[in-house]
Amino acid sequence: MAFTDLRLFIDAAGGIGERKDIDGAHWNLEIGCITELMAEQDGPLLLFDSIAGYPKGFRIATNVIATARRFALALGLPVDASKLEILKTWRSNLRALKPCSPIEVLSGPLTENVLEGSQVDLGIFPTPKWHEHDGGRYIGTGDMVVTKDPDSGWINVGTYRACVAGKDRVTLWIIEHKHGKQIAHKYWQAKRACPVAIVLGCEPATWIAAPSAAKAGVSEYDYAGALRGEPVEVVRAPYTGLPVPATSEIVLEGEIPPPQDESEMEGPFGEWPGYYTHSGRECVVRVKRILHRDNPIILGNPPLLPITERYGIPLFAARIWDHLEQSGVADVQGVWCHCHTLMVVVSLKQRHAGHAMHALTAIAGMQTGASMYRYYIAVDEDIDPVDLKQVIWAMCTRVDPAESIQTLKSWTSDLDPRLSPEKREKGDFTMSRMLIDACKPFVWRDSFPLANKFSAEKREEIWERWMAKLQLK
Ligand SMILES: Cc1cc2nc3c(=O)[nH]c(=O)nc-3n(C[C@H](O)[C@H](O)[C@H](O)COP(=O)(O)O)c2cc1C
Repeated sequence: MAFTDLRLFIDAAGGIGERKDIDGAHWNLEIGCITELMAEQDGPLLLFDSIAGYPKGFRIATNVIATARRFALALGLPVDASKLEILKTWRSNLRALKPCSPIEVLSGPLTENVLEGSQVDLGIFPTPKWHEHDGGRYIGTGDMVVTKDPDSGWINVGTYRACVAGKDRVTLWIIEHKHGKQIAHKYWQAKRACPVAIVLGCEPATWIAAPSAAKAGVSEYDYAGALRGEPVEVVRAPYTGLPVPATSEIVLEGEIPPPQDESEMEGPFGEWPGYYTHSGRECVVRVKRILHRDNPIILGNPPLLPITERYGIPLFAARIWDHLEQSGVADVQGVWCHCHTLMVVVSLKQRHAGHAMHALTAIAGMQTGASMYRYYIAVDEDIDPVDLKQVIWAMCTRVDPAESIQTLKSWTSDLDPRLSPEKREKGDFTMSRMLIDACKPFVWRDSFPLANKFSAEKREEIWERWMAKLQLK
C-alpha cells in the first residue's frame, strides 16, 4: 500500500521507532551538521521545526530513507529483513512491476496556498545552508524537476540541485546529457523559455523514481506508479500546466530562460563523492508561482560523504545482479554497492576457473551512463557482500596482488575528485578501475586453509542457549 504523502511516511517512520523531531535548529549549518551527525550513526528520520527566524510549521525533513528499514518501508518491502534479503525481495518484485501512468485530479492539498506576482518570495522557506563551504542555500536537494518535451508531450522528471538566487530565482545545475537539459535546449532553440515545476517534498516512492534515468520518452511518473502499485495523483500546476503530485509539499513553478538571456554563478556545493568539484554559470528558473501546503515540509537530502548512507538499500545493486545473470554469470549469491557506487562487491559460488573475473569484467562493461566506479570485488559465497569487514578480510587473505588484480582504463564523472586539472581542462573524463578477485583460487580452493570461525549452525545453537544468560537480548 503506497503512502499518499510525505507526512504519512514520516508518521510511519515514527511507527517503526525511526523518527526524531527537532525544534529550534538554525538553517545556517546547524540543520546540515545535525543531519550529517545523525546519518553517520544510522539515526532516525529528522523533522526540523521552529527553525530559527522562521514561523513554526515551516519544516524540513532529512535522512528520510537513510536506513534499510525506512527504505524498505517506503517501497513496501519487509522492514525487518536483512539488507540482502530486502534487495532480493526488491529484485523479485521488480519482475512484476508494470508502468502505471499518473491520473489527474482536480485539486489537492498542494494548492492550499498559491502565491503569485509580488507574493512570490522564496525567503519564506527556511532553506538551509547545508555544508560549511557551500556557495548558497540549496532549497532543492531532494527535489523532482518536471519538464515537458515540446514535440511529443513526454513528461520528464529528474532530480537536480537548486539553489536560491533571489526572491523569485533559483539556479538549476542540469548536466548536459540529462533529459531535462535536452528538453530545455529544444525550447531555447525556438527562442522560448522552458516551463518547469520543481517539487520540493513528496511521498518517497515517487521521489525514488525521479532520478531513475527512465528512457527518453518514458515518464518517471509511470515508474513511480509502478513502484507505488497505484498511480501518482497529479494536479496541473496553474502557471505551466505541468503535472505535479497533488499531495506535494511545495512546488515552484516558472520558466528557464535561455542561458544567454540569464544565468547565474552556481556552486560550489558538497557533492555525493564527498568533495566540492563543480561550480560555474548555470541556468536559472524565474519563479512565477509558489504552491505550498499549510505547514509545508521541504524534503532535504544534502549530499554527505558516500561512506554515510543516504539510501538504506542500493537499488543499483539489483540492476548489476540482473546484468550479471543476463551476461551468463552463474551462481551469484549477492551484490552490494559500498561508498555509493564506488565499490561494488559480488559474492558467488565459483563454478570454474575465471568465474570471478568473468563477473568483474561483466560489471565493468555494464552500460550505466556517466558515473563513478572505482573497485569491483568478487568474493566467495561465505562472505556477505554487505558486510565490509568480511569483504576486507577476504581482500586481505585471499588476494595475491600480483595475480588477483587487474586495472582497466575506463570513463568517470566530472565529479571525480581524482581527475587531474589537465584532464579536466581537456574534457578527458577517463579514469582506471580496479578488478579484485578476492575469492579462493579456484584450482586449489578445496585445500585453502580452513577459516577459523564457528559454523552458522554452531553459532546459532550456542547463541540460543546463552543469549538470555548473557543478557544481550
Ligand atoms: C539526490 C540526487 C541529486 C542529483 N543532483 C543532480 C544535479 O544536480 N544535476 C544533475 O544533472 N543530475 C543530478 N542527479 C542525477 C539525475 O537526477 C539523474 O541522472 C536523472 O536520471 C536525470 O534525469 P533525466 O535524464 O531524465 O533528466 C541527482 C540525483 C540524485 C539522486
